[in-house]
Amino acid sequence: MEFLTVALSKGRILGETIELFKRIKLNFDNVSEDSRKLVFEFKEYGMRLILSKPSDVPTFVEHGVADLGVAGKDVLLEDRKDVFELLDLKLARCRMVVAVPEDMDPSTPIYRIATKYPHIAEGFFLKKAQPVEIIKLNGSVELGPLLGLADAIVDIVATGHTLKENHLKVQEVIYPISARLIANQVSFRLKSGHIQELLGKIKAAI
Ligand code: PRP
Repeated sequence: MEFLTVALSKGRILGETIELFKRIKLNFDNVSEDSRKLVFEFKEYGMRLILSKPSDVPTFVEHGVADLGVAGKDVLLEDRKDVFELLDLKLARCRMVVAVPEDMDPSTPIYRIATKYPHIAEGFFLKKAQPVEIIKLNGSVELGPLLGLADAIVDIVATGHTLKENHLKVQEVIYPISARLIANQVSFRLKSGHIQELLGKIKAAI
């Protein structure tokens, strides 16, 4: 059987992904972002795992250096890489939302949006025909309204703790988000045997 290279997202998705693989008898317990190791070989399963930043997983898969990847729908919607989305893994569920200061009057207009997701934010407000200025930040976007840089944020919310701690509230939900299994388009055809077998097991497990 061919060797499959699978790109996994570091961070909050990783633990749940490894748990899912465990349910289909693939034991990747030694894969941890605590070590500085980034490539893990499992000859017994015919697999190699690579750990990357979540936003880079679709890039590795699009270029074919990874056959498969586990990436958040947020990253897929933002970057729109040329990859096949095979399956909703229903992991790392959260929501992409517009959030505003807790004490903001609902009639207050929103002009400036701080976000790590400029394309998603732009598309959302364009659809509403609402002109806004998008301010791209790379993290801790909650600082935008706190410091007066922005009127609102577009970001992912999981537990809601971060919003609460920073006196923000959800104004509107844009999309439900979860982790997806993605494939390189060529690998999907050339390695279809191995990929379909894995896909079948994962589908049965979720
Ligand atoms: C994400 C997101 C929020 C937070 C939401 O940030 O951007 O800040 O998690 O999670 P919660 O609703 O469970 O509190 P992340 O931890 O990825 O870090 P970042 O802000 O530096 O991007």
